[in-house]
Amino acid sequence: MRYYALAAMMIGLGVAAVHAQPQFYNTVDGSPLNFDDAMEEGRDTEAVKEFMKTGVNIYNENPDIMAEAEELYSTMCSGCHGHHAEGKIGPGLNDNYWTYPQNETDVGLFSTLYGGASGQMGPMWGSLTLDEMLMSMAWVRHLYTGDPETATWLTPEQQKSFTPYKPKGGEGEQS
Ligand code: HEC
Repeated sequence: MRYYALAAMMIGLGVAAVHAQPQFYNTVDGSPLNFDDAMEEGRDTEAVKEFMKTGVNIYNENPDIMAEAEELYSTMCSGCHGHHAEGKIGPGLNDNYWTYPQNETDVGLFSTLYGGASGQMGPMWGSLTLDEMLMSMAWVRHLYTGDPETATWLTPEQQKSFTPYKPKGGEGEQS
């Protein structure tokens, strides 16, 4: 029980920390990332400005962008990570196991998308605008199957209403 309280506290601190101006580092080599190479389009949307300031992705669980977020994920990610992010040639993204623990935060996830990881996980700066990266992240987070309390990227209110994603039909089946 005590461990849970401690874990909850640390998660709380993590959330507090991402509200400070975030720093972005390449997921594999740790070098600082700047966004000079980002596409001109989609650089200064409200969501991108907020994210660069606070590390909070206002697209998470935002019904207005979910259709577009799903579309982006389906086109750009599902071929390698699976329709439900259950994993294919790339690892599963719908549970709380991460090869790179920083992907548990949205700042870390954004850094992985922008700067890539290894092998087939190339950088996305040439294929997605910064705004589209935030949207595809929102869909990855929407597919989360874990305990909402471990969904540190959500606000406490969102955690209360978040329903872990349940793939319909068999594993990997298209729906
Ligand atoms: C061509 C195949 C391919 C595409 C397309 C692709 N990925 Fe990946 N992805 C991979 C592979 C392979 C890895 C494992 C790389 C590694 O471990 O360094 C990976 C790793 C990742 C990781 C790190 C996971 C972890 O456990 O830490 C994240 C996050 C990720 N991808 C998200 C995405 C998202 C979101 C998209 C779409 C915008 C995407 N990927 C598109 C193949 C792909």
